[in-house]
Amino acid sequence: MSTTPIRLGVVGTGYVGLTTGACFAHLGHRVVCGDIDQRKVDLLNQGHIPIVEAGLEQIVNDARSADRLSFVFGAEAAAADADIVFLCVPTPQGDDGSADLSYIEQAAHQIAPVLKPGAVVVNKSTVPVGSTIEVEQALQRPDVYVVSNPEFLREGTAVTDFLHPDRVVIGSADRGAAERVAELYAGIETQIHVTDPASAETIKYAANGFLAMKISFVNAVAAMCEAVGADVGAVVDGIGSDPRIGTQFLQPGPGWGGSCFPKDSRALVKIAEEHGYNFTMMRGVIDVNDEQLERMVHKIVRASHRSDHDLTGITVGALGLTFKAGTDDLRESPAMAIIGVLRAAGATVRAFDPTTVGELSPHQSEVLSGIELVDDPLDIADGADVMVLFTEWPEFAKLDLNGLAARAGAGTTLVDTRNLLDPTLVRESGLNYDGVGRS
Ligand code: UGA
Repeated sequence: MSTTPIRLGVVGTGYVGLTTGACFAHLGHRVVCGDIDQRKVDLLNQGHIPIVEAGLEQIVNDARSADRLSFVFGAEAAAADADIVFLCVPTPQGDDGSADLSYIEQAAHQIAPVLKPGAVVVNKSTVPVGSTIEVEQALQRPDVYVVSNPEFLREGTAVTDFLHPDRVVIGSADRGAAERVAELYAGIETQIHVTDPASAETIKYAANGFLAMKISFVNAVAAMCEAVGADVGAVVDGIGSDPRIGTQFLQPGPGWGGSCFPKDSRALVKIAEEHGYNFTMMRGVIDVNDEQLERMVHKIVRASHRSDHDLTGITVGALGLTFKAGTDDLRESPAMAIIGVLRAAGATVRAFDPTTVGELSPHQSEVLSGIELVDDPLDIADGADVMVLFTEWPEFAKLDLNGLAARAGAGTTLVDTRNLLDPTLVRESGLNYDGVGRS
């Protein structure tokens, strides 16, 4: 626990804002989180967590019981009494690939009149390089400081990532303001990197860009393995023993997705372009990812013995819909993108995902409309011409393969876009198996 509790305001209670607010409260600070969605504020005040995030409910409710965490409507109410205010609002992708800063600017305008003199405003949202200065301009409050403190939280492990970070990055033109933000992390053992704001903002994009590059690289190697008859698992083990390479983030898959990599990689290309640099490597990383999605579509079409233009009458059984395991987030999910292509070609899709069992949220109902959802993974097999494992939920590794084969029929192909299953066991059940880069 921190020895000197600090009063914090957090604007936005999405994945980042809610985790940030709850974790700082867990560390002993007094946190008020504000959101413009009154329904969400009410739910949070009743102890309901609107997202799937391991460990979050527990720390939110512990902090609420200790009177260190509360939820209010609006940015002003969150910022009014705070010494430090975190901006954790979305920065969606604009039409031209750049990040849309309108939520940040709006939040800055709302909090400007209520900020205490000497307060520190912290950009936690992923923002283009130069945004710290833009927030300063939007605030028009020379008596407050603006600091960049990017997050490196993975959905699904966000609480652990917050409380046990590899590093904390603080970008500030003012040493004192950086030290005040660093103090918030006093209860955590980690390296703190204090930089100028532009470097902190660039660190965030470079980190996500590099990780996306690793995945695109391994997906390209997997394609090569298929061409030459090698096995990508063996190749990753072989290269990963070299500590300069490592094995992390080298798991082949259907392509990277989620709310961050797709938008941040495009924004990185855009930011570079706006400053006169053509980031060809990052463009290649994005192209390889687009090709990976197409490669998965081709595998599924091939397994259904049809052409990619006409999948009328074909039923695809899908295991998993979220962009990765451990989250209920469907944003930029490769599964959803691939299913969209299959449905546009006329296929019927029947899907199981552990986060879509039972009552759906309004958002889930909207984005999943047209997909037949089932509450038992084996039900996807009934009448399926092809089955596809899209998300690496651990329970799929223990699926009753004989049950799937009995219901889909022997000879049906199971396309494993995550290389989660043992090909030998799948084949022994009577199904055909197709993974990614597996010999
Ligand atoms: C990512 C980063 O990992 C976080 O450090 C960062 O803070 C966050 O974005 C953000 O900018 O907010 P997240 O989007 O939760 O976190 O997801 P990841 O775990 O990084 O996975 C991204 C995508 O890559 C997923 O589609 C995942 O399935 C895929 N992936 C990941 C692979 O295909 N192979 C791998 O080896 C790893």
